Amino acid sequence: MKLLYVTGILFLTVTFSVNACPASDRAALLAFKAALHEPYLGIFNSWKGTNCCKNWYGVSCDSITHRVADINLRGESEDPIFQKAHKTGYMTGSISPAICKLERLSSITIADWKGITGPIPSCISLLPFLRILDLIGNKLTGRIPSGIGRLHRLTVLNVADNQLFGGFPRSFTNLSSLMHLDIRSNNISGQIPKDFGKLRMLSRALLSKNKLRGSIPESISKIYRLADLDLSFNQMSGTIPASLGKMAVLATLNLDGNFISGTIPATLINSSITQLNLSRNAIQGTIPDAFGPRSYFMVLDLSYNRLRGPLPKSISLASYVGHFDVSHNHLCGAIPNASPFDHLDATSFSHNDCLCGKPLIKSC
Ligand SMILES: *[C@@H]1O[C@H](CO)[C@@H](O)[C@H](O)[C@H]1NC(C)=O
Ligand SMILES: *[C@@H]1O[C@H](CO)[C@@H](O)[C@H](O)[C@H]1NC(C)=O
Ligand SMILES: *[C@@H]1O[C@H](CO)[C@@H](O)[C@H](O)[C@H]1NC(C)=O
Ligand SMILES: *[C@@H]1O[C@H](CO)[C@@H](O)[C@H](O)[C@H]1NC(C)=O
Repeated sequence: MKLLYVTGILFLTVTFSVNACPASDRAALLAFKAALHEPYLGIFNSWKGTNCCKNWYGVSCDSITHRVADINLRGESEDPIFQKAHKTGYMTGSISPAICKLERLSSITIADWKGITGPIPSCISLLPFLRILDLIGNKLTGRIPSGIGRLHRLTVLNVADNQLFGGFPRSFTNLSSLMHLDIRSNNISGQIPKDFGKLRMLSRALLSKNKLRGSIPESISKIYRLADLDLSFNQMSGTIPASLGKMAVLATLNLDGNFISGTIPATLINSSITQLNLSRNAIQGTIPDAFGPRSYFMVLDLSYNRLRGPLPKSISLASYVGHFDVSHNHLCGAIPNASPFDHLDATSFSHNDCLCGKPLIKSC
């Protein structure tokens, strides 16, 4: 009886300490919290007690190792905390390098807090289990950590809407598991690495609104799974690689607002692309007469370029052309009286040299 009692106590003690997070993880979380200031919602009020795996807001642990595995703090969320406060989140402070002591972290989401400043701690590249790094919507400055390429399990890198600067670090194309890349709206400069195509798992590459320059690397077209490529509003120059039009699943290609020159490769017109925006570049030549049944465009925006010549006859063979814009070019000749154009109004064709026919007022 006495033995049973002692065993019972022992069992309870053991289960308790096994389920609790290690003191070192708890200390790292508290140091991380100390560098942040969240004035309105009190999300950190729950960060108390010895077991950081239990009821700490935004913290979850691996059920076997009881090490902290995820930090999930979103400033815009359906969580009752936000609904009660009728506010979206706001936080100041910075991301403490203490976060890197949580060496079993698999995801870090610190998103949409609007006021968090300072750099992405460079030690983040030493977290070997990291799969998700989502820091969108803060005021982070500094560079993408130079060692980031060591994160060979990383599938999501989202640092959009911050104030990061500097170029892609040399190790970047070593992110061999990366599927979703979003660096939109920062001040990232320099060239897109020539070997960008090494990112074989990439399906979305969203790089718009930065200061990227140089030409579009041909190697991008080797990324078999790439469905969405957005380079709009950068300082990209050079020509459009024809190989982009031969990609298997590329659906969105946004190159608008750059300094791209040369002609439109015919391959883009007869491709898997359904949204093509080449607006506001320096593209010359004629619109390729290469439309066919494969041409299915929800968006085809070629406005504000230097295109000449007529609208191609083959456009009547396209399966679908939804939003169409060739305004502000030097096109000339009759607008084909064809089905893809039935629904369009004059603004799609305005400010050209001598286009004529419906829906323009000028008849041919
Ligand atoms: C980019 O840098 C310029 C000046 O160098 C600054 O005015 C601008 O606010 C920055 N933009 C972002 C998104 O950080
Ligand atoms: C990229 O990975 C390879 C192979 O692991 C390694 O040899 C190389 O040094 C890495 N490059 C950079 C710039 O980190
Ligand atoms: C294409 O890009 C231009 C310039 O950035 C933008 O104004 C336009 O709305 C885009 N077109 C569509 C249909 O999204
Ligand atoms: C369109 O692309 C298909 C498949 O890539 C090809 O077989 C066909 O010849 C192309 N058509 C035109 C008009 O270029």
